[in-house]
Amino acid sequence: MSQNAPTAQWSSKLGFILASAGSAIGLGAIWKFPFLAGESGGAAFIIPYIVFTFTIGVALVMAEIALGRRGRGSAASAMMAVSKKPGFKWLGTLAILTSFLILSYYSVVGGWCVAYLVDSVGNITGAHSAAMTSDSLAQDFNSLITDGFMNCVWLLVFLSITCGVVVGGVEQGIERISKYLMPALFILMLVIIVRSLMLDGAWKGVEYLFNFKWESVTWHAILQAMGFTFFSLSLGAGILITYGTYLPKDTSIPSSSVWVAVLAIQAALLAGLMIMPAVFAFGMKPNAGPGLVFITVPLIFSHIPFGEIFAVFFYVCLLVAALTSSVSLLEVVVAFMHNEWKMSRRLSVLLCYLSLFCLGVISALSFGVWSDFKIFDRTFFDFLDFVCSNLLMPIGGLVVAFLMGWWAWPTFKEELMMAVPRSTLTINFIRLMVSVLAPVLVCVAIYQGIFG
Ligand code: PHE
Repeated sequence: MSQNAPTAQWSSKLGFILASAGSAIGLGAIWKFPFLAGESGGAAFIIPYIVFTFTIGVALVMAEIALGRRGRGSAASAMMAVSKKPGFKWLGTLAILTSFLILSYYSVVGGWCVAYLVDSVGNITGAHSAAMTSDSLAQDFNSLITDGFMNCVWLLVFLSITCGVVVGGVEQGIERISKYLMPALFILMLVIIVRSLMLDGAWKGVEYLFNFKWESVTWHAILQAMGFTFFSLSLGAGILITYGTYLPKDTSIPSSSVWVAVLAIQAALLAGLMIMPAVFAFGMKPNAGPGLVFITVPLIFSHIPFGEIFAVFFYVCLLVAALTSSVSLLEVVVAFMHNEWKMSRRLSVLLCYLSLFCLGVISALSFGVWSDFKIFDRTFFDFLDFVCSNLLMPIGGLVVAFLMGWWAWPTFKEELMMAVPRSTLTINFIRLMVSVLAPVLVCVAIYQGIFG
C-alpha cells in the first residue's frame, strides 16, 4: 500500500454518502437532465440513462471508490499504487485534467445560478415587478448569457465561492454544507412538482417524459444517455477515487455506491418532473436548450403564493447543489497538485482559480461575442461539454474498468467484501459489469457517437 496516508477521514458513512451524492447531484441533474431529455425525445433518453446507471454506472462507482481507498493519495497515484505500473499514473492524470476542464465550464452555469439568486432577492424587495411570461423570461435568460461582461463577473463569483470552500478543507467545507441543504432542495423540488402538475396541460409533459417511442431511439440519444450517466455520477473524472481515499475500512463500498446512484437518479427524475409538465403547460418547446430550467422555474413560482420567497430558497439550494459538485471537481485537482507536486493547498487553489477563470471566460463568451467561433460545429462551451461528457469521462471509466475488472481484480474483490461480505452472485454480477459490459458499451457508444 502507498505511504501517502490520507490527511482526513469522513466522520461517518452518511457523511461520505452525502458528500459523494453532493458531487453527483448538481447542475447535471437539475439543469442538464431536463434539457437533454427534452432534446433527445424524453423516455428514449431516460430509459437508457436509468439502465446505464444501475448497471455499469453503479459498478464503476464501486470500482472508483475501491481504487481510491486502496491506492490512497491522488487519483493518479492511487492508479499507480493499485496497478503497480507507473504508466497508469498518466491515465490517472487524464482524469484530473477532465475535472479541471469540466469545472471551467460548469462554473459558467454556476454563475447563472448566482445571477438568478441575486435577481430573485431583487424580486422580493420589489426591485423588479415586470409580468412574467415564457417569452419575457426567455429573453431575460438570453440577455444574461449573451452579456459577456456580466457572464464573466458571475463566473468569477461562483469560482471564488468554490475556491473558498476548498481552502477550508474536506471535512469542514464539503461535509457541512451538503448535510443540510440537499434535503432542503429535495423538499423544494417536491413543492414545485406538485404545483407544476396542477397546471393545465401538465400531464402532456409527464407523458413526454415516460412514454417510450421506438422512433426516438437513436445512437445520438444513447450516447447522450451514457455521457449523462457518467456526468451525473461524477464518473471518470477522479472524483470518487479521491473521495474513496478518505473512506474508512469499515464502510461497505457496495451499499454506499447504490445509495449514491439512487439519490442521483431521484434528483434527475424529480428535476424532469418539475420542468417538463410546466414546459407543456406554458406552451414552450421541450427542446428549448440550456435555458429550460431558468425559464420554467420562475414561471412556476409566479403561480405559487409567496412564490418570490420560495424562489430565493430554491436558488440558494440550487447554488449549494452546484457548489458541492464544483467543490468535488476542484478538490480532485488540488489533491493532485498537493500530493504530486508538493504544493501547499493554498497555492494549488490559487493557481486553479486563475487558470480556471481564464478558461471559463472563453466558455462564458461563447454564448455572446464568440458565438461564431466554432470547433466541429460547436461553440467552445458545447465542445468542451461534449468532449468531457461523451469522450473523456467514458474513457476515464474505461481505464478504471480495465484496471479494477481485470488487472487488479483480486484487490477490487477484497475491497468489495470488506465490512459486509457479499454473495458470489453479487460479486460476479459486479465483475461482469465492470470488466465486460462497461468497456463494450463505452467503446460502442463512443464509436457510434463519433463515426456513426
Ligand atoms: N455530477 C455533477 C452534476 O451532475 C457534475 C460533475 C461531473 C461533478 C463530474 C464532478 C465530476 O452536476
